[in-house]
Amino acid sequence: MKTIVGNWKMNQDLAALKEFFLAIESLKAQINCYAWVAPQFIHIPLVKELAFTLGQIQVGAQNCSSEEAGAFTGEVSAASLADIGTSFVIIGHSERRQLFNEQEELLNRKIQKALQYQLKVIYCVGETLDERNQEQTFKKLEYQLQQGLKDIPTKNLLIAYEPIWAIGTGQSASPEQAQEVHAFIRQSFPTTPLLYGGSVKPDNIQELLAEKDIDGALVGGASLKGKDFAQLCLAASRF
Ligand code: PGA
Repeated sequence: MKTIVGNWKMNQDLAALKEFFLAIESLKAQINCYAWVAPQFIHIPLVKELAFTLGQIQVGAQNCSSEEAGAFTGEVSAASLADIGTSFVIIGHSERRQLFNEQEELLNRKIQKALQYQLKVIYCVGETLDERNQEQTFKKLEYQLQQGLKDIPTKNLLIAYEPIWAIGTGQSASPEQAQEVHAFIRQSFPTTPLLYGGSVKPDNIQELLAEKDIDGALVGGASLKGKDFAQLCLAASRF
C-alpha cells in the first residue's frame, strides 16, 4: 500500500481545515492508501478530531524538539506530541535545514527522541540544484543518511527524498530521476518506505508512484485542498 503525506507547512486557518475535511468526505470510501497529514502543531488536536470519522487519516507534526523537557522556550517535545496522540513527525525537511540551520547531529537527536516516544519519523534528504549539476547528489545523500540516521533503528522510520530544486517550484523530478535516487537509497534501506517529495500534483503522481522504489509521496502545495489531496490518495489507491 502506498503512503501519501500532506505537509501543510505554516498554512491553513480553522475554516480551511474544516473545508478540507468536508471536501474529502464524499471520496473517503474509495481511498485505499495510507493517508497522513501534518498541520501546524496547534491544529493537531482539531485535525485529529476532524479526521476521526475518516479512520484511515493519521495526523503528524512537522518538527519536534531534540530535548526531553525543561527550559526550552518555544519548543515542542516529542513526549507531548505522543501524549496528544500524534502519529508521526517530519524531521530534517529542507526548510528546517536551510531556514533554521538544522544539521545532521541535531536531526539525529530529534529522530532518537521521536522514536523513543513511538512516533513514526519521516526523515527528509535531498540535494540542491548546484549539487545535482556537479554530480554530488549521491554524495550529499550518503552524508545525510549516514550522519542523520547514525545508530537509528529502521523500525517506524520512513525516508523522504526531496530534491530542494523541486520543492515548491512546480518542477518535479522526472520519474526516472526520482527512481534513480530511490534505488540508491534502497541499497542501504531495503525495507524502509521511501517517499518522493517536490512538486507532486494530481497530474504527475501516477507516473512517480509507478516507479519500483517509490512507496509514496510527501506533498506540500497540492495537499492543502481536500479535493486535491483526495485525488492524490485515489491515484495512490490504484497500486
Ligand atoms: P511541494 O512541497 O509539494 O509544495 O513542492 C513538498 C515539501 O516541501 O514537502
